[in-house]
Formats: sequence, C-alpha cells, structure tokens
Amino acid sequence: MQHLTGLCGLDSGTIAGLLDTAEGFKKELVSASPSFSPSLRDRRIALVFFENSTRTRFSFELAARNLGASTLGFSASTSSVTKGETLSDTIKNLEAMQVDAFVLRHSASGSAEFISRITRRPVVNAGDGSNEHPTQALLDMFTLREHFGRIEGLRVVIVGDVLHSRVARSNIHGLLAMGAEVAVCGPVTLLPPDSEKMGVRLLTDLDRAIEWADAALVLRLQLERASGGYLPSLQEYSVHYGLTDERLERLKKNLLVLHPGPINREIEISNRVADRIQPPGYSKSMLLEQVTNGVAVRMAVLKTLLA
Ligand code: CP
Repeated sequence: MQHLTGLCGLDSGTIAGLLDTAEGFKKELVSASPSFSPSLRDRRIALVFFENSTRTRFSFELAARNLGASTLGFSASTSSVTKGETLSDTIKNLEAMQVDAFVLRHSASGSAEFISRITRRPVVNAGDGSNEHPTQALLDMFTLREHFGRIEGLRVVIVGDVLHSRVARSNIHGLLAMGAEVAVCGPVTLLPPDSEKMGVRLLTDLDRAIEWADAALVLRLQLERASGGYLPSLQEYSVHYGLTDERLERLKKNLLVLHPGPINREIEISNRVADRIQPPGYSKSMLLEQVTNGVAVRMAVLKTLLA
C-alpha cells in the first residue's frame, strides 16, 4: 500500500491487517504508561488541512508524535493559498522541503487521489469533499470489531445524510469488504439512489432499521441541507431520523451507537445518548471510544505507509 486515498478497492486482508496493527497500539495507548517504539523517528509528516477539523487533525498529530515523527501544520487561511497558490504547487513546495508524507483534508472530492499522482510521497486522505474519509471508517470498523469481536455478518445501519457523506461512503466500502451487512436509512432525498446496486439495503423507517441492526452509525446532519431543500425542517428530521430517547426506549434490544462527530445535539442524536449518562433503553454509545481508537488506527496507517 503506497497511499491511503480511500477504502474503495481495498481487500479484507489489507483492512484486517491495519486493524490488527491498530489493536496493538490501542493496548499501549490505554495502558498506565504508554511507550511506543519510535519507528518513524526523523520522518516529517505534513498535515495539510484546507478544511477545519478537531478529531482527525489532532489524532494524526498525536499518532505521528507517538511514533517519533515530527509534524508540520498547514492551514489554508494562513498560507499562500490566500494569494492564489494552487493545491498542486503547495504540495510540490512542501515536497521540495523534504516532507516525507502528506495527510490531506480538502473540500474537493478526488483531491487526495489527484495529489497521490503528483508526489512520490505517501498520501493519506483525511477527508475529501463527499468522496471518502478512510481513516474514519477504519476507526469505526475497529470500534465495531473491538465490541463485537468480528465485523463479518454484523448488521450496520448508516443513518442520515448518506448522499453527501464521505464517512458513509468509506464505511460502505470497508464494511462490505469485511463481510458486514449494510443498510442506509434517511429521507429519500439524502440517500444515494444507487445504494442497492452496491449491495446496500435502502430503508426509510428508522424504527425498523434499528430493529434490524446490531449497530447504528449516525451521521452529522449538514445543517445547510434544510435550507437546500433536502429536508422540510430540522425538527421534522429529528422526529423521523433522530436517535431520540423515546425511540431508543421503545427498542427492546441492544444497539451500539456510533457517530463520527462533530454532533448536532438533539437533532440527529439525543444528549443522553451522546453523553452516555443513563443511556436510554439498551443502547450503548461509543462516541468517545471512537475518538481514542482514531489515534491507534492513524498510528497503524502511518506506520504501514512509512515504516
Ligand atoms: N470525524 C471527523 O472527521 O471529525 P473532524 O472534522 O473534527 O476531524
């Protein structure tokens, strides 16, 4: 594996290998005194973020530091991008400074793949437009595997704005490759019409969807969708597609709840689910475990590509 631009086309062996490597890192991360071998000592990793981020950016930074690498932070608003410099010129200039790898977040779908063709350094996609967010899907799958002991045969429903979600797209590719059953659930205006061709169930009733599923991956509702004509109103969305306390209390079975963050409280997910204080019904929320797992997974990705 030279780059990680997406999970589309990655086989189950490669994905399982990354998750196995991450498992070792997770054990160390949560130990009383974590100690990692500095296998990336003297490597310089450029974190090139053209979009805002909390979880992805900080966890890549921690992952790199845990492995002994140094990081170079880049934010578009304080760079020469503001003077009109292109993405490819930015990358070529950083490469000329002998950067060893790029972690790229960009609003343009396909930007990570594009960059991987103009640099000889490894490129990791940290989210490109509505295309893919492979390390988020890897950490979601890691969380599922850690909880259930397997991914194969699990029923996972992805809830919300699947159409515009890079997290959903990467999870669909990854989960199907690993043998999970996948459904998408949301208003028809926010579901990709070609879902069934990919082998994904298309559901519009959330109560039935969570009755079917072992785990629900709840997506952040991109709030501008309400004004964009995709939704009648946020309140209506919450009633029909929010993981509300009432909905989870009605569900008389275990449901593992995942969300990539950031969350819209009381729109797609209730406070009690998000905060894990007296979670309603038999639900179990994994939101902060996902964040911890993100560090381990990103360590595994950087080590695999660079060590
Ligand atoms: N899940 C995720 O990508 O979060 P950030 O945008 O904060 O990185």
